[in-house]
Amino acid sequence: MNEFNNKTAVVTGAASGIGLELAKLFAEQGMNVVLADIEQDKLDAAVSTIETFGAQAIGVLTDVGSAESVEALYQAAASRFGSVQVLCNNAGVFTGGHVWEQTVDDYEWLIRVNQWGIIHGLRAFVPHMIAQGDECHIVNTSSMAAMCTLPFSGIYHMTKHAALALTECLYHELSMTAPQIGVSCLCPELVNTGIATSARNRPAELGKENITDMHTLSMTAITDATANSLPPRVLAERVLQAIKDKVFYILPPADNPWRATANSRLEDIQQVRNPTFAPPAI
Ligand SMILES: NC(=O)c1ccc[n+]([C@@H]2O[C@H](COP(=O)([O-])OP(=O)(O)OC[C@H]3O[C@@H](n4cnc5c(N)ncnc54)[C@H](O)[C@@H]3O)[C@@H](O)[C@H]2O)c1
Repeated sequence: MNEFNNKTAVVTGAASGIGLELAKLFAEQGMNVVLADIEQDKLDAAVSTIETFGAQAIGVLTDVGSAESVEALYQAAASRFGSVQVLCNNAGVFTGGHVWEQTVDDYEWLIRVNQWGIIHGLRAFVPHMIAQGDECHIVNTSSMAAMCTLPFSGIYHMTKHAALALTECLYHELSMTAPQIGVSCLCPELVNTGIATSARNRPAELGKENITDMHTLSMTAITDATANSLPPRVLAERVLQAIKDKVFYILPPADNPWRATANSRLEDIQQVRNPTFAPPAI
């Protein structure tokens, strides 16, 4: 897809971090932008920012973990702009700890946002994109956590592996049935965003996180690591280039330490070797 002017992009998790930079970059291309997020005040601020670029933008308060909410997002986008050409299923949350200590609610929360969020997005938007018949592109945000496994963030790895697998299947299916719709999977390394404070958006009915020693260690590590990492604009630029070039895997550069960690896991599998602990040397 190379024509962006007057086309419409929907971005979930658009009030912060990578999603906000995607929304800004799409607006800079002359696109109409639909920003979806669960945080109303930040969403309002994000829409105001986008409007200063002269772009048409709306904010839609959305819980990506709810099928009804994501269907309402599609309806809001379609009634304002007619059709949607770019969908970024980007909203995501993180929590960490030992896999046996994290609560059922911890699992429920991450699965709801990181997996169901993408599932609901695909079910609400893809049939319309197919029916439109025009060039479209879908970007699902996974993570380099989908390409490796590290301790103390097992739920996050699990949901991001699932996001990558579903997106690969989507790629195969659309290549066979509607090749005018491109598909990419964004797999960022560490990025300086609000991900370490994901719990700000944890639904009240799921209670608080289980604060174990390993949870604290994991959250401290992600707070420190993301604070000293890439600006999210870099990821937005990678996404735009991938949409233009129809590239599926949106990865860090080949010399990035996360690529070595991912390669180590692939070698383990190929050699039927037990999982190597190979954290990125960052
Ligand atoms: N920051 C990193 O290091 C990193 C690395 C790899 C992948 N990612 C992924 O990038 C994506 C964007 O995260 P980010 O790093 O920009 O974090 P962020 O916290 O800055 O942004 C995430 C946004 O998602 C929103 N959100 C949370 N729950 C939601 C829900 N139920 N419905 C709708 N919106 C919801 C939040 O309000 C927030 O605005 C996530 O999928 C994340 O897993 C981040």
